[in-house]
Amino acid sequence: MSTVKFFYGDDLPLEMHKVRIVQKLDLKPIEHRLAAITEAGNNTFLLKNRDVFMDMLTDSGVNAMSDQQMAAMMQADDSYAGSETFTRLSVKIEEIFGKKFFLPAHQGRACENIISQAFVTPGSVVPMNYHFTTTKAHITLNGGTVEEIPIPEAFHLTSTYPFKGNMDIAKLKAVIKKYGVEKIAFVRLEAGANLIGGQPFSLENMSEIRQVCDEFGLMFVLDASLLADNLYFIKEREETCRELSIREITRKIADLTDIIYFSARKLGCARGGVICTNNEEAFVKMRELVPLYEGFLTYGGMSVREMEAIAVGLEETMDEDMINQGPQFIAFMTEELQKMGVPVVTPPGGLGCHVNAMEFLPHIPQNQYPAGALAAALYLVSGVRGMERGTMSEQRDEDGNEPLANVELLRLAMPRRVFTLSQVKYAIDRLCWLFENRKLVGGLTFVEEPKILRFFFGKLATVSDWQSKLVEQFRNDLGDSL
Ligand SMILES: Cc1ncc(COP(=O)(O)O)c(C=O)c1O
Repeated sequence: MSTVKFFYGDDLPLEMHKVRIVQKLDLKPIEHRLAAITEAGNNTFLLKNRDVFMDMLTDSGVNAMSDQQMAAMMQADDSYAGSETFTRLSVKIEEIFGKKFFLPAHQGRACENIISQAFVTPGSVVPMNYHFTTTKAHITLNGGTVEEIPIPEAFHLTSTYPFKGNMDIAKLKAVIKKYGVEKIAFVRLEAGANLIGGQPFSLENMSEIRQVCDEFGLMFVLDASLLADNLYFIKEREETCRELSIREITRKIADLTDIIYFSARKLGCARGGVICTNNEEAFVKMRELVPLYEGFLTYGGMSVREMEAIAVGLEETMDEDMINQGPQFIAFMTEELQKMGVPVVTPPGGLGCHVNAMEFLPHIPQNQYPAGALAAALYLVSGVRGMERGTMSEQRDEDGNEPLANVELLRLAMPRRVFTLSQVKYAIDRLCWLFENRKLVGGLTFVEEPKILRFFFGKLATVSDWQSKLVEQFRNDLGDSL
């Protein structure tokens, strides 16, 4: 991998693009932000964009699009059936992943709905490196359960282990033995495991999973939503892949799978969802569900313009200069925070910089949502919107018990090619100030708690008036600064 060496000072991540369309941002005073976060029930999902300075909630559907993507959108073929756009996207998918059957869906969770309805039956089990919120919701909705079998390093938040997203192969065999092969719906591997800090798997681990699947006749499903980052990490960190191109690594990964699905809001930097496979029987089983839930087989709920953008976005994902921008900015942010003593997940993963909320706010018990409180507090002191990834993002069981998450993380997503380095430095600065004043931050409690995916639109109250104290301290330290 070629890197630019700087002559003076520190190495910096250097953008291999220029910005030609911009969107104006507004940074409102802290008193305004206090009113906004209160109105949003301390849930950053419920903030209005006009009140947000840096939107680090997610990368989903908000990665910067390229000039080539925008140009391709103009030649979209808008027809209900037989569209040329569908053919172009199919050809690109087959070229990159080597899969000849492609099913479109409106986004990643729609792919999960189709796959779960097709293969998950009551009592069945899906072993996986780690769950994602919508994945687990669809599997449980169909009567299945999720068995998480990451390697132990996944939960060592401060580590140098390069592939914390790997699956524990011994545990995979144990799960198959425990439930019996007939109960296993499929084995699922998530690229850039989202809820444990965007941590990658290695190609070596994937090959081992494939061997187990072959031994027991199981289907191997890859959630490739965060594949772009994972590809970069394999190339950077896996000795045997150093000389391979991103395209070659992608193909090796794809060849190990039976089904690949992804959110094209992430992979492909547009908006949509893709399922692809070479398994005709599986394809036919899933195909029936597409017109029922998504739309006709040639668009599956996507706009054809977005489909054109996905085809170009997938091709651009094969360009190392494109996919390294996110991980390099994330590494910069993580390393700067680490220097200041802020507890962050290491090694830096993809998707975003992840702050360890349990260590940042050790005085807040998990049932008062430390990661949620940290997200609300950071918004208050900076206008930066992050996302809670901890107990708030978990779902109560049938008896109403609240499972405590394995990790409590504040995710500060780094949509690809969206922020400048000075904006990232601003976010670092405010997070460091908050760390200095962390004792002022208190917990949260639900006042409106939806049954399913409660983190999306649940509302919470503060357990004390800690937020006004934080505002007071901010004014003391930073005067009339925004
Ligand atoms: C790993 C993973 N799988 C599935 C999804 C769901 O995709 P979508 O948001 O497009 O429904 C996401 C979204 O964040 C994800 O990160």
